[in-house]
Amino acid sequence: MDHISIKELLSKKPIGTTATVKGWVRNFRSNRFIALSDGSTIKTLQAVVNFENTPEEVLKKITVGACIKVTGDVVSSQGAGQDLEIQATGVAILGESNPEEYPLQPKKHSMEFLREKAHLRPRTNTFGAVLRIRHSLSFAIHQYFHERGFYNMHTPIITGSDAEGAGEMFNVSALDKKNIPLTEDGEVDFSEDFFGKETNLTVSGQLEAELGALALGKVYTFGPTFRAENSNTTRHLAEFWMIEPEVAFADLDDNMDLAEDFLRKVIKFALDNCADDIEFLSKRLEDEEKTKPQAERSEMSLKDRLEFVADNNFRRVSYTEAVEILRNSKPNKKKKFQYLINEWGVDLQSEHEKFLVKHFGCPVILYDYPATIKAFYMRLNDDEKTVRAMDILFPGIGEIVGGSQREERHDVLLQKMEEFGIDPKELWWYLDTRKFGTCVHSGFGLGFERLVLFVTGMTNIRDVIPFPRTPGNADF
Ligand code: 4AD
Ligand code: MG
Repeated sequence: MDHISIKELLSKKPIGTTATVKGWVRNFRSNRFIALSDGSTIKTLQAVVNFENTPEEVLKKITVGACIKVTGDVVSSQGAGQDLEIQATGVAILGESNPEEYPLQPKKHSMEFLREKAHLRPRTNTFGAVLRIRHSLSFAIHQYFHERGFYNMHTPIITGSDAEGAGEMFNVSALDKKNIPLTEDGEVDFSEDFFGKETNLTVSGQLEAELGALALGKVYTFGPTFRAENSNTTRHLAEFWMIEPEVAFADLDDNMDLAEDFLRKVIKFALDNCADDIEFLSKRLEDEEKTKPQAERSEMSLKDRLEFVADNNFRRVSYTEAVEILRNSKPNKKKKFQYLINEWGVDLQSEHEKFLVKHFGCPVILYDYPATIKAFYMRLNDDEKTVRAMDILFPGIGEIVGGSQREERHDVLLQKMEEFGIDPKELWWYLDTRKFGTCVHSGFGLGFERLVLFVTGMTNIRDVIPFPRTPGNADF
């Protein structure tokens, strides 16, 4: 390469040498000072233009958004917040940018505005930081599992089954839309379709990961998952990435231990490896908090919040205990909802989850949920009312992880499927594992974007994935 990245330049500090950098102009002040970004770091590099060796037509084209190449002497800088700068001996325009048309101006844009400019928003400080942290978390996750003897398993994206049994799937079909074949009953005849049956985009790689765990011992998936749930919230995407470890011979306690250790370690990794970006986002969040009324402001900075979670144990509470706590809590009239739950067996709303996290002041692991509100594959407890399920609730996020010990007994699983209206013929291969060498096993799913939300302190899940897919939005 004929140039050096700004990140490398700022870390090596080769004062007194000549260097070439390439990047995009963030700002151009007084016709002399260029703030250059190449995305390798949150930091911009100041390049000082020399009028004498910069032709007028080049000078004219140094505009915000233009891509340029700067060669010059690396000198120490007098400017606040920067160690060095480049005294340019040569500036070349690599790609012009018409300042009248370029949507990103050197000012603060709203998140809503930037969502409409998803093709350019990675060039902003905020999205640059988010994307670098996203990368680091992804790397930390693979490293975590690799170092502990897990094998990464690639599970299918197109599947013939509904892993969660929740019916929130995107149909995959290659049928001729103008000439859809119908059965005698007037239903779509998928036997004429590409795969000879009805297929969908996967909602979870869990069932296939279980097959992997019952062969390789410890596996994990890290892939895209799709849900056609029409939830227009700040926590839901139609396309999101999920990490799903699955471990043979692990019970629910082992599963909770793994999930907690895993979350704390990857958050610690981000703190250790993304300090500049976290500091920037911490400051950003602080500014945002200042716009809120005093009572609603968060007492902890982003960095403190991450350190707290990385350094402290999570609180484990059974569903039954949680319901007891909610029952004894005072209803919150001001917010027009009640924390009160009167009935054992109902699913918790996100407001209840938030209340519990606040109540304990730390991440909470809820376990042993009523069987009727959880998926068919979860291990039934001896009370025959609850299952060995767990959800991890995070401050400001709510549910970040969902997992369970799996029902390993063939007869019980078959009965559960029947109760849930799942055709055993559809999942014959899954049932087979319970017939041939079954064993206790457990796993969980972490919503990757919810983790990125937590670590970046962003408030909307659409702002932590490069190209969000939500109801009515798949433009880019
Ligand atoms: O709780 P869920 O539905 O669990 C499963 O899919 C299990 N098969 C996981 C397992 O045991 N292997 O989803 C797991 C996590 C949630 O806790 C949440 O973090 C995330 O996936 N998630 C979503 N994230 C963004 N947008 C959505 N629509 C999400 N739905 C679930
Ligand atoms: Mg869940």
